[in-house]
Amino acid sequence: MKNIILGVTGSIAAYKAADIVNVLTKDGYNVDVIMTKGGMAFITPLTLQSLSKNRVYTEVFQEDYPREIKHISLAKKADLLLIAPASADIIGKMANGIADDMLSSVVLAIKDIPRYIAPAMNTNMYENPIVQDNLARLKKYGFQIIEPKEARLACGDLGKGAMADVDVIIQTVKKCFEG
Ligand SMILES: Cc1cc2nc3c(=O)[nH]c(=O)nc-3n(C[C@H](O)[C@H](O)[C@H](O)COP(=O)(O)O)c2cc1C
Repeated sequence: MKNIILGVTGSIAAYKAADIVNVLTKDGYNVDVIMTKGGMAFITPLTLQSLSKNRVYTEVFQEDYPREIKHISLAKKADLLLIAPASADIIGKMANGIADDMLSSVVLAIKDIPRYIAPAMNTNMYENPIVQDNLARLKKYGFQIIEPKEARLACGDLGKGAMADVDVIIQTVKKCFEG
């Protein structure tokens, strides 16, 4: 069984992570969900735990098993990393090697597996040169960006920044394993 780490961060699109977890789990993947504080402001760990049938990780300092360091063992076990939705904040942290929570710590500990991020944010945030530079940097380091789409955003603005459709994200993951 393939192991997917799904990072869920602080965007309104976090509610769509429930569908992503549900479909991937039902299709036979093991999904370990890691949520940031921002992610938990939008959707509860209980929802994603119930759908993934796995414990959801939220705290880097909560070590339930003294014989393992969880952010390292999760990273070693993973076959693929997906962050959906990926906030401007996590993108900035990842592009700069910051590891100040469970998700960003796991991201830095991951080696040699496919890494996908699906950004979701307001158009001004997305087009901000700082965010664009961070994305370019992540691409340089081998991360693959599942491009956001243009849509009427939750804030009312019309523009690019809405998370890619769930089925596009699922297909991207499946294609990666197929070939
Ligand atoms: C209602 C609301 C919606 C938000 N939507 C987004 C979003 O779509 N993308 C984003 O990057 N930040 C969004 N933010 C801001 C982030 O939640 C904030 O930057 C947070 O610190 C992100 O933390 P995280 O990356 O650790 O989850 C939103 C905040 C609020 C209050």
